[in-house]
Amino acid sequence: MKNILVTGGAGFIGVNFIKMILEKEPGIRIINLDLLTYAGNLESLKQELDNPNHFFIQGNIGDTELIEKIIQEYSVDSIINFAAESHVDRSISDPDIFVKTNVLGTLNLLRNAVKYNVKRFLQVSTDEVYGSLEDSEELFTEITTIKPNSPYSASKASADHFVRAYQHTFGLDTVITRCSNNYGPYQFPEKMIPLCINNILNDKSLPVYGDGLQIRDWLYVKDHCSAIWKVFKNGVSGGIYNIGGCNEKTNLELVKTLLKILDKPESLITFVKDRPGHDRRYAIDAYKIMNTLDWRPSVTFEQGIKKTVEWYLCNKKWLEDVTSGAYRNYYKEMYDGR
Ligand code: NAD
Ligand code: DAU
Repeated sequence: MKNILVTGGAGFIGVNFIKMILEKEPGIRIINLDLLTYAGNLESLKQELDNPNHFFIQGNIGDTELIEKIIQEYSVDSIINFAAESHVDRSISDPDIFVKTNVLGTLNLLRNAVKYNVKRFLQVSTDEVYGSLEDSEELFTEITTIKPNSPYSASKASADHFVRAYQHTFGLDTVITRCSNNYGPYQFPEKMIPLCINNILNDKSLPVYGDGLQIRDWLYVKDHCSAIWKVFKNGVSGGIYNIGGCNEKTNLELVKTLLKILDKPESLITFVKDRPGHDRRYAIDAYKIMNTLDWRPSVTFEQGIKKTVEWYLCNKKWLEDVTSGAYRNYYKEMYDGR
């Protein structure tokens, strides 16, 4: 497979994925379709915009005509769908766009994948489709019952069901990945880690929801990207692959770690009202991908979080620009003119 339509390639994980592919896989052409919502940032791909193996198109995965045109014009032979509304808090206040993008947008891609004989479709899903773990010993496996608790995870679970149905009904070659929480460079500072780093750098308080004892299983974004690539290349058709780093941390532990690295006092921690329906614990059993596809994370949490903080320290301008939306007009003019 040579011509891959990567959707949502201007977002956090998509950017890291595209950088990895352009660096390591010279035979691959990436057609990057991204709507450039508040979460998409072409500034992150500044150097890649001139790469002859990278074609950027601003547009919506729900736009049928556009998808048909792209598949034909670029001879797209496979699709990796990162595009999504990805923030749980936003899904609680404004769920409709989550259905439009995450469910209907994915359906539109699937329909056209079948119509144009696309060879492989990889859906980037999430561990949040499994719901919340209460028992401290339990882990999410690929056969854990799906029990989404937030409008975000309900939309992602629904998309997963459509992917499965398209494999079953139309014989589309699909694979689904379900990863735990990512951290690393280029993450929009609404998510916990970049939000806290940004606040620490500005001597602002760190808002910890509820009692701060919720647990997330953290994975460095580049390790998620390498896992996606393994599944894309060698995953069994119709397969689901959990991805995780075995790094369970409470939110309080996480925040304290960031304060320690940046040498700031714990008095910056402020407990705020809890997220409604807040999932208590996520933890991934990654046995399947480790043993059948020989994937391993490349860094420990301690190494990854230090690298991450260093990256934000070296890229304060990026952080300021995405927070204020300063870069947005520049790229808007550039792509609106086409
Ligand atoms: P993100 O919010 O940073 O990026 C999403 C990208 O999708 C943005 O560039 C945005 O402009 C684009 N987009 C949104 N709606 C679109 C549409 N209708 N058409 C085209 N593009 C559109 O998200 P992320 O953290 O990079 O997550 C990428 C994928 O990985 C998502 O599907 C998410 O559910 C999944 N995921 C994320 C995590 C995580 O920890 N961040 C973990 C597991 C899975
Ligand atoms: O598990 C994978 C999921 O991880 C992805 O599918 C989602 O796209 C991604 O956003 C992430 O979801 P979370 O809700 O776990 O991530 P978030 O960074 O929003 O929050 C992490 C934890 O920190 C969570 O328990 C809520 C808490 N939190 C978050 C924010 C933004 C706070 O305590 N305070 C905050 O201000």
